[in-house]
Amino acid sequence: MTPVRFAIIGCGRIANFHADPITKMSDAELTAVCDLLPERRQEFQEKYGVPVYSNYHTMLQQENIDVVCILTPNGMHPSHAIDVINRYSKHVVVEKPLALAWDDLERMKIAADNAGVKIFPIYQNRYNKAVRKVRADLMSGKLGKVALGTVRQRWCRPQRYYNLSSWRGTWAMDGGTLVTQGIHFLDLLQYLLGDVKSVVANIATQLVDVEVEDTAVAILKFESGALGAIEVTTAARPDIVYEEQLEEASISILSEHGMSVITGIAANVLSMYTSDPEAAELHSEDFSHAYGTGHIPLLKDVVAEIKEGIPHPISFEDGVSAIRLLNAIYRSAEDNREVYLQEEVTSRKLGQPDQDLSDEYTVLPE
Ligand SMILES: NC(=O)c1ccc[n+]([C@@H]2O[C@H](COP(=O)([O-])OP(=O)(O)OC[C@H]3O[C@@H](n4cnc5c(N)ncnc54)[C@H](O)[C@@H]3O)[C@@H](O)[C@H]2O)c1
Repeated sequence: MTPVRFAIIGCGRIANFHADPITKMSDAELTAVCDLLPERRQEFQEKYGVPVYSNYHTMLQQENIDVVCILTPNGMHPSHAIDVINRYSKHVVVEKPLALAWDDLERMKIAADNAGVKIFPIYQNRYNKAVRKVRADLMSGKLGKVALGTVRQRWCRPQRYYNLSSWRGTWAMDGGTLVTQGIHFLDLLQYLLGDVKSVVANIATQLVDVEVEDTAVAILKFESGALGAIEVTTAARPDIVYEEQLEEASISILSEHGMSVITGIAANVLSMYTSDPEAAELHSEDFSHAYGTGHIPLLKDVVAEIKEGIPHPISFEDGVSAIRLLNAIYRSAEDNREVYLQEEVTSRKLGQPDQDLSDEYTVLPE
């Protein structure tokens, strides 16, 4: 049985969460990795014993690869993915966010369709037991009509977090806390409650010196008629909250037949489930960090689609819907008005090109 051959571009903090599951799957193989930084390449070479490259073009020209995991800074996802697709016709797994600017998604879709390859977005928390349970019961009608859905994310990211890399905290390459920390919860909110119809939002940079917001609030109307509220911040203090991961986050759904509250560092604990209290413990998981365990089944499903044609449960369009919502939220705050998602507007700042920063991560063939 020929394994599906994976390569990684970007051996940073998230890369082990791709490399570990890939190397443990019997029908997948980590063929090569690439990073601009020698110390990161070396670490991967020592840990996984794979060939390492500084230039991804050279890697893709020399190695036999089926899928490339794009694990580079947020703002580079579209250009790296499109380059890999257009030049080398490879499937791509793209870390969240799929893109920042709304317009980039269209370019990614056209490139993939023309090359006949797939783009797999990462939303690993969709695999959490708590999320699956609540979604199944919402879909079957067991929870009844939804009145209100709320996301509350109170995390701490002090200045030293933003100082880790030059791309963090910028509009061009990162996006604010809504994008970098909040996106998982925004994705889950729409995954559970359906599409948002309109949004009114405010954002602010409160406790750090960066371009983007560290605090955001938004009021939502869903297509279903439910209302929603979002409170996302990385301005929770003191710093020990960051050091010891004492952070708080939750998604609450108030519906006809009860209250459902998912908490935990990564939406992993079903802490209240009035319609079936015994299910709460059964569908809770113990996660030691915010990245959770969902990369494992998500990457297995990538292999299943490539090898057996089984459609991945997270489609490109699923990846798009969180980006549409993010751009609507930012545009609402920028223009101080209610924004309807069907407008498909782009934020005036999020993902807008910054030549100096993107030059740092753009690589041409040798
Ligand atoms: N799913 C999740 O829960 C989750 C968690 C953390 C990070 N992420 C996402 O993963 C991505 C990476 O985040 P990170 O924390 O690992 O960042 P990081 O800064 O630690 O790593 C990014 C790496 O990409 C490398 N890189 C950039 N351009 C390159 C190029 N052209 N060729 C080769 N290497 C290149 C950099 O040298 C760096 O080592 C981000 O988009 C982030 O939002 C997702």
